Amino acid sequence: MEIGRLASRLSLDILGRRPTESELLAVRLDPASLEAQVQTWLADPAFEERVVSLFADVYRTRPDRYVVEADGDAAFHDLTYRAQFMRSVGEEPLRLVGRVAALDLPWTDVVTADWTLANDLLLAHFPIEALESGGEGWRPARYLDGRPAAGVLGTNGMWWRYTSTTDNLNRGRAAAIARILLCDQRYDGTVDFQKSEEADVSARISTDPACVACHVSLDPIASTLWGFWRHHPESYTEALRYYPSRELDWASRPVAPPGFYGQDVDSLYELGQAIADDPRFGNCAVAQTWSFLLGREPTVAETDRFNDDRDAFVRGGLVYRNLFRAVADDPWYRSDSADFEGTTAPRRLTPDQLAASVEALTGYRWTVADGIDAMVNDTWGFRILNGGVDGSLVVTSPATESAPVALVQERLAELAAPYAVADELLLPAGDRVLFREVQSLEAEPTDEELRAQIAGLLLRVHGAAAAVDSEQVTILVELWTTLRAESSGPAEAWAWLLSALFRHPDFVLY
Ligand code: HEC
Repeated sequence: MEIGRLASRLSLDILGRRPTESELLAVRLDPASLEAQVQTWLADPAFEERVVSLFADVYRTRPDRYVVEADGDAAFHDLTYRAQFMRSVGEEPLRLVGRVAALDLPWTDVVTADWTLANDLLLAHFPIEALESGGEGWRPARYLDGRPAAGVLGTNGMWWRYTSTTDNLNRGRAAAIARILLCDQRYDGTVDFQKSEEADVSARISTDPACVACHVSLDPIASTLWGFWRHHPESYTEALRYYPSRELDWASRPVAPPGFYGQDVDSLYELGQAIADDPRFGNCAVAQTWSFLLGREPTVAETDRFNDDRDAFVRGGLVYRNLFRAVADDPWYRSDSADFEGTTAPRRLTPDQLAASVEALTGYRWTVADGIDAMVNDTWGFRILNGGVDGSLVVTSPATESAPVALVQERLAELAAPYAVADELLLPAGDRVLFREVQSLEAEPTDEELRAQIAGLLLRVHGAAAAVDSEQVTILVELWTTLRAESSGPAEAWAWLLSALFRHPDFVLY
């Protein structure tokens, strides 16, 4: 793969944004320096954000709303505040995962940690306190309601997203645990209820072999979750807390006692420990990382490569960064040749990557309705329209291109490009990010300036090395000239040209 394209792929996957101009120039000058650059990217704080974003599609905890109604507090009359609070609730488990990765803590902390992460919004509403006073953003915190130390399994975020009804008896929650933490998909199958005359469904669960197949392992996991039971699933005040007094309530229901695939576990704490000890937990992280970077799960023929990646993960003490690095070193990841079987197909930027890439170049972030980020919200914003996943209505992003996605990309490009031009107009050329070749954005450029500036934009926006006399540049010179004839001045023509570059496949695919 051409070095600039490879650098773009790595930077987008590790940091969620395209490489900067100086990063690109450095790896073009000395391709061998890419390996050190990858290490630097992995150490960047943006990697933590990226882990949050990647695992959001696995945990599916970022819908706009939950069964829980946030109506227990006058603060929620402010819709922007309410949207930001809801977003924070769903991010709680993801932030914990991200911090474990960022601090190189053993991956098992994901299910054993006796702390969580909270921001100001969660600190204001949850029964939680920051571990250290002061601080800002997402910071380590601890619940004060006697809940067990079980990492993400002990977060409100998980159990606001995954709720339970009287008949469900925590089974949906148990299936989520198996899918997210063990990659155990067996509970996702469809079930045929027509085969028996038996009217009592709960009796069939433990007797009918067609039901036992799943429920024998699902129901015992469900029985570890009674401390998170809510008599009124939608009640905000009830959903804030964990209830140690309810932990044994399974005993008075028609359900199996707590357990983990045949192993005795007595509590949610022990469930977390049992998951941490289960080899499927580490393997699952490897499989998930394959799907993040290679866009697919390993096939049987790829078992050796999968095992190599898992060994790299285990050897370093389950440090997530090592695993990420091992998969990113894979020749299949680094190839774009169509004759190389199993090669990674180009992927569309997710809403998170698109927003971060545009922001890195322009400083622009699309907000709607008084400060709600349009790329992370669906009620007011355009996340799903832009091919994103909310984890509830939409759980996998569509593989095909669609008109709504193109429209959202167009709108974002048309907002960000004039914003960048207006901003850079006021700066000396040397202090600008994008328009470094022209002296003034308001003056008519000479042909030489025009070509140099366009080549500069192609480098910064697409990561492409185009010579000033290349055909690629010539085509864009013609486009600029057409746009100039239609616009009020050079600055407007530059804004239109830039917006076209943001919508180009070389920007939105990687
Ligand atoms: C493929 C695995 C699988 C099989 C087989 C299976 N179930 Fe389930 N069952 C589940 C899962 C997973 C849930 C939780 C679904 C959720 O809440 O998302 C569930 C939930 C239930 C519930 C609670 C429904 C509710 O109100 O939420 C009942 C009752 C139930 N199953 C009965 C049965 C019966 C009876 C059979 C046999 C005919 C059966 N199941 C077979 C996986 C299975």
